[in-house]
Amino acid sequence: MAKNILQGKRGIIFGALNEQSIAWQVALKCHEEGASFVLTNAPVAARVGQTEALAKQLNAPLIYADVTKMEDLENLISQSTAQLGGKLDFVLHSVGMSLNVRKKIPYTELNYEYMHQTLDISAMSFHRLMQVLWKHDAMANWGSIVGLTYIAAQRVFPDYSEMAEAKSLLESIARSFGYHFGKHKKVRVNTISQSPTKTTAGSGVGGFDAFFSYADKMSPLGNADASSCADYCVSLFSDYTRMVTMQNLFHDGGFSFTGIAQDLMENFKDQSN
Ligand code: NAI
Repeated sequence: MAKNILQGKRGIIFGALNEQSIAWQVALKCHEEGASFVLTNAPVAARVGQTEALAKQLNAPLIYADVTKMEDLENLISQSTAQLGGKLDFVLHSVGMSLNVRKKIPYTELNYEYMHQTLDISAMSFHRLMQVLWKHDAMANWGSIVGLTYIAAQRVFPDYSEMAEAKSLLESIARSFGYHFGKHKKVRVNTISQSPTKTTAGSGVGGFDAFFSYADKMSPLGNADASSCADYCVSLFSDYTRMVTMQNLFHDGGFSFTGIAQDLMENFKDQSN
């Protein structure tokens, strides 16, 4: 399917931890489409992830950076533009983490230190990243910045807990920074609201497997997988979407606009008689 639509484009891809990671699939597709890019992940991923193997496979530079640290991001951006030989055409923010979720702390009893960390890693980091890109004037004209989000930003999914707040903030930052980036630098900023996907971060959410099946049944097209999400990212990095900005784009097989699915109704028919 590759059409070289990212030929000559330079970018940075955050968050490819292992083969299941959405960012991993994005890196494979960007490579197929002719882009050159830097891979980045948290320093701890050097121990627990396989980012290095992917970097070797794709012959991509790997620069570790903790998204909560300004100096790490400054270093990442200046090294990336130097190593890639110019300004960036695309950046993928595919980062999320919640200690409250990981430790299964109920929503009504959230630990606020953890919550600070969640908001910092999963949402404020998007602003911090864009601020560094802005200050370094590191984005090329008509460049594209994408963050990944989930529909719990708009509707309640109880097990998603405080990550719902993080995603609301992330989407708002995309709109607000998108305005400035559009107006002053002709750069677009969007979020993709992705189906539940079997990854390390996804599977950390309570009841994930049941919820995955529910969403799959609710969506007329079924759940969107990581590979199709990667295709969508490629389209947003390409020149075919130059006028799309400040949007939250649902990539969920139709889940977001389905009220009820016939398949699920069948489960309740006997009970109503
Ligand atoms: P993943 O666990 O493979 O990716 C999360 C990444 O965040 C990892 O690579 C991890 O190392 C990185 N990270 C965590 N803390 C960091 C820090 N301080 N600095 C730098 N990187 C850090 O899981 P997945 O699912 O691929 O997640 C990617 C994005 O997609 C996240 O924003 C997630 O919320 C979002 N998403 C995931 C869905 C799912 O069901 N898996 C659904 C909708 C959105």
